[in-house]
Parts: sequence; structure tokens; C-alpha cells
Amino acid sequence: MSDIQLVNLVKSYGEMQAVKKISLHIKEGEFFSLLGPSGCGKSTTLRMIAGFVMPSAGRILIGSDEVTHLPPEKRDIGIVFQNYAIFPHMSVAENIAFGLKLRKKSQAEIEITVTSALRQVGLVGYEDRYQRQLSGGEQQRVALARVLVTKPRILLLDEPLSALDKALREEMKYWIKELQRTLGITTVYVTHDQDEALTMSDRIGVMQKGRLEQVGSPEDIYERPETLFVTTFIGHSNVINVTVKGRDNGKTVVSFGANTILARALEGEVAPGSAAKLVVRPENVVIGRTGEGLPATVLTENYQGALVRYRLSLGEQEIVVERQNQSNVSRFAPGEEVGVSWDPERSEVLVA
Ligand SMILES: Nc1ncnc2c1ncn2[C@@H]1O[C@H](COP(=O)(O)OP(=O)(O)OP(=O)(O)O)[C@@H](O)[C@H]1O
Ligand SMILES: [Mg+2]
Repeated sequence: MSDIQLVNLVKSYGEMQAVKKISLHIKEGEFFSLLGPSGCGKSTTLRMIAGFVMPSAGRILIGSDEVTHLPPEKRDIGIVFQNYAIFPHMSVAENIAFGLKLRKKSQAEIEITVTSALRQVGLVGYEDRYQRQLSGGEQQRVALARVLVTKPRILLLDEPLSALDKALREEMKYWIKELQRTLGITTVYVTHDQDEALTMSDRIGVMQKGRLEQVGSPEDIYERPETLFVTTFIGHSNVINVTVKGRDNGKTVVSFGANTILARALEGEVAPGSAAKLVVRPENVVIGRTGEGLPATVLTENYQGALVRYRLSLGEQEIVVERQNQSNVSRFAPGEEVGVSWDPERSEVLVA
């Protein structure tokens, strides 16, 4: 088995705790992303799994093996970093063969393995090139191939695409996901890019200030955020200040200004009168004529090609609405009075 268990994992640097008691079970074959802003402890967590950073407390298990105090080379992991670390004085083939030579494999075996790795990463014909003759994306493919030939139990990737330009990042994220799926290798992927995490992952762990805020599938994280931090870090959210009124038919009743509306049920009991935040994604708000929903006024309209983005005033507050720019969809002008609505199940009440 090559699942990974982190048990109450802590890393302190003096007074500062970079990682605060993280417990997590990453399943065999899973593509798991650690997502969060700069400094939240993603790389520190990954480096503890790799063995480059020793935990201050807690345990790490890979399969049934306790690896907490093992050096990196005894953990059977492959790691790729942000800055492609391929050797400039070696050709692509020599770079990929490097780990195999260290392991004293026969020349025949090395040749077969390197050829198959080149095929896996789509670099057949590139074997004699050097770093300076490769694009950033190709260098990252070499770095991956070099790791994969050693057949690690788990693959650890620390922002491997962040040095690439946007177009290449787009292409590489699908490519890496596809490769991972084909190989079925347990993978931990560190990124601060929500799009990468949402597109590539089976599950995401959102981190903030050394803690795991929420763990779930991309849909869970995007559609059912459990904290205000998660909802604002992943995509744009409208956050409306509301007062909780009570329950109605398995929904939560909230009010703001003169409006009383329903939202997805809160878990647990919340005292009526409590202040809360109502969270609605811009793409879930429907704009209609006056009377079709809550009264609102268009403040601005922004044409963005595939999307049109509106800023509206809704009572005392402002919300953002995004609509697909389809030919049969009417547009609204600044100053226009409109009605807005959304499916209650697509709105979340978060109590601070
Ligand atoms: N060797 C170290 N000594 C002291 N503090 C450290 C050390 N390594 C990391 N830190 C601190 O621990 C915190 C977490 O760092 P980490 O590198 O894990 O963040 P990150 O989430 O990977 O951020 P980024 O997205 O910028 O890479 C940061 O505040 C960082 O300054
Ligand atoms: Mg980092």
C-alpha cells in the first residue's frame, strides 16, 4: 500500500509554528492537493512527507511503514520542485538515467527504462538535448521522468508549474493529471493556484496559517465551503451580512435590510438573531426584471467576452453577478432596476 497518514504533525521554528497539528489520510492512488496562500505551510508539510524537514511532533506513515524519522532516500518517494532542477551538463537521457546509475542498474535495463520514460513524458527524440535547448515545460517533463524511472511509491510535487507561462501551465496541468491517472501513483501536489487544484485533484486540503481548514473534493470545496476563508480563497464569492431568523422546511431563514430569504440549512443549532454571512457565487445569481426576486440596481456592466459581469446594489450591500454571454440572454444597463434571485441550495450561511 502507498497511502499516506499524517498524525498530529507539527513543525515549529522557534516560537513560530509553521505547521500546527495536521492530521490527514491521503488514499492510495489519490491526487491530493495542498492549497493555500503564501506562507501557510504547504511546502513545509510536503518536505516533512519527503523527509527533508524533520517534524517537531507527530508521525508520518507511508503504507504501514512509519517513516517519521527516516532520511529521504529510505522513503521511496519522488519529488519535483518549482525550479526545474535538471543537470545542465547532462543530456536529457543522462538526466533521466542518473537515479538508475546511482542504483547500479545494468546498462541494458537503464536503456529500456529511459526509453519508456521518454515515451511517458512525450519526449521521444529529445534524448540528446541539453537544458538550454528545452522549454520550461520540457524541462519539467524531464524532471518528472527522472523521478518516475526510480518507481517511487509516492510522487510529491511542489508548485511544479509556477515558473511556466500561463498557456504552458494550462497545458501541463492536464498532462500531469493524465499521467498521474495512467500511473495510478499516490500524489501530493502543492499549489497556491485554485484553478490547478480544482482541475487536477481528487481531493483538496485548503490550508491557512499552518492549519487544514477544509478537506474535500473540488466540488465540496467550491460548492460547500465550511469557512469564510475557504469561500473567499477559492474563486469569488458574494458575502452578504445577514441575521439568522430560524428554520423553515429544512432551510435556514435569514434576513438583511427589508429582505427575508431562505438558504441551505445550517449544520447545528444557531440562536435566532445571530449575525452571519450569506455566501453566494456570482455565477449562481439570476438577474430578471423588477419583481422577479429581490429588488436591486445595476451599478456597472463589464463585458468580458464569454462572460458579462455586473455589479449590483442590493439593499445596503453590493453583489457581483456573472452571466454567460449567450445570444439569447438580455443585457442590463447601469441604473436599471432589476430583480435578483438564486437557488437557496446554492447559498451558504456561515456563522463567524
Ligand atoms: N527553515 C525555516 N526557518 C524558519 N522559518 C521557516 C523555515 N521554513 C519555512 N519557514 C516559515 O514557515 C512558514 C511556512 O512556510 P512554507 O514554505 O511551508 O509556506 P508555503 O505555504 O509553501 O508558502 P509559498 O506558497 O510561499 O511557497 C512561513 O512563514 C515560512 O517563513
Ligand atoms: Mg511553498
